[in-house]
Amino acid sequence: MKKIAILASGSGSNAEKIMEHFQFSDKAQIVQIGSNKEDAYVLERAKKYGVPTFTFNKTALEQGTVTEKLIENQVDWVILAGFLLKIPQNLINKFPNNIINIHPALLPKYGGIGMYGMNVHSAVKEAGEKETGITIHLVNENYDEGKIIFQAATSIDEKDSAEEIAQKVHALEHKYFPQIIESML
Ligand code: GAR
Repeated sequence: MKKIAILASGSGSNAEKIMEHFQFSDKAQIVQIGSNKEDAYVLERAKKYGVPTFTFNKTALEQGTVTEKLIENQVDWVILAGFLLKIPQNLINKFPNNIINIHPALLPKYGGIGMYGMNVHSAVKEAGEKETGITIHLVNENYDEGKIIFQAATSIDEKDSAEEIAQKVHALEHKYFPQIIESML
């Protein structure tokens, strides 16, 4: 049985899909959810599934407190599901090739610092793109530059607002992220 920890900063709709997917699994278990936001809705979602949570700030993350906690809990895989802080080297060193991120665009397009959540969809809309999608990738020390594991695309209609683009992307994330995680374990 593999142990998965999720780090998330916001609503946590992806985290919920992952908890749902592995709820009765004999392959993996979600052992904890960590957030850098005390009021992140993901913490409420975790309660529903009985998954323990913890919160931390940027300094604690950078100083290795989060890394220690994950090691203490014998975590095998770290999943970033809408986690907006940069992952420090101390965490990457302890989990080389075992941290997976989801990005709401077709990397290498629309990646990098400042490109998260609605910022991405607004930029995609602004550029008049005909398609967008999701990228699931391993995490290295540079934002959005680790090895790509999986991508899926969706078309954009000229009339789609940034919010509608976000909905299409979320639908892809919810469909694929849990199963791609399972395929990586
Ligand atoms: C997701 O769309 C995810 O791809 C994105 O944040 C959203 C979180 O939604 N992540 C990034 O932008 C990372 N650069 P959720 O909280 O409902 O899962």
